[in-house]
Amino acid sequence: MNTQTVRDEYRPRQRRWSAAELLDRLTLREIELSSEQREELEPSFWNFLCSEDDSRHFYRQAQARRGRYSDALFSFLEVWREDEANHAAGFKKIYQALYGQSSEAIDARLAARRVDFSRIEEFLGDEFTLCLVLAYDELATTHAYHRDFAFYESLGPDELKTWIRLVTSDEALHHANLLRLIGHQHRHRVPEARRALDRILEIDLRGGDYEATFVLDHSGAGFNLSPEELSSLCAQAIVKKLERIHGGVPTAQELM
Ligand SMILES: [Fe+2]
Ligand SMILES: [Fe+2]
Repeated sequence: MNTQTVRDEYRPRQRRWSAAELLDRLTLREIELSSEQREELEPSFWNFLCSEDDSRHFYRQAQARRGRYSDALFSFLEVWREDEANHAAGFKKIYQALYGQSSEAIDARLAARRVDFSRIEEFLGDEFTLCLVLAYDELATTHAYHRDFAFYESLGPDELKTWIRLVTSDEALHHANLLRLIGHQHRHRVPEARRALDRILEIDLRGGDYEATFVLDHSGAGFNLSPEELSSLCAQAIVKKLERIHGGVPTAQELM
């Protein structure tokens, strides 16, 4: 009898949908914002577009270090980057509807942004800390977008209400996929999570310039979680979830 334990392959979960299709017919005429409100919100909408689009840079950084990471991480990243590109496409549609810029003009502005990963370099060399920084960021984004449901509802068009719900549910799924990946590949390192998350939180709260790294973009316009909430709802919440995983076989609900 073969007594060798065969570990199940890690498979990230994904819900496929198209932001471009959903928002295809969105026009400024239907959006209930005054021109002053629109102007005031421009930096926030630009930031949301940039940080979703910055997933391209994050993926490129991971690819450059491919030898250090497992196949499981890459099966997550392949699904994740498709979702993030879909989110970027959606925020681009919304930005175009609100501010009337051409697709080419927006792409040129995005391409001209400075990209520098030195602020988060220390987390990238090790798959476990890379998963933690991403899990922390996805959870922060989930809370932040969830808090914006009423705002998107107030804008009028039904597709914007659907949009923010679909994006938020993707971000929650990314977070859950990452916790499952940590349980699958790095369970023995869970006792290190508290210290690593303290460090992630410290760097996030220190602020400084966000340089297109996808993660730790929590000091710019439009972000609606306080430092205390980043600590309790994100960093500490992940430690608690992972310690539950470490203590036994996690249930599906524990990972959500
Ligand atoms: Fe996203
Ligand atoms: Fe995400």
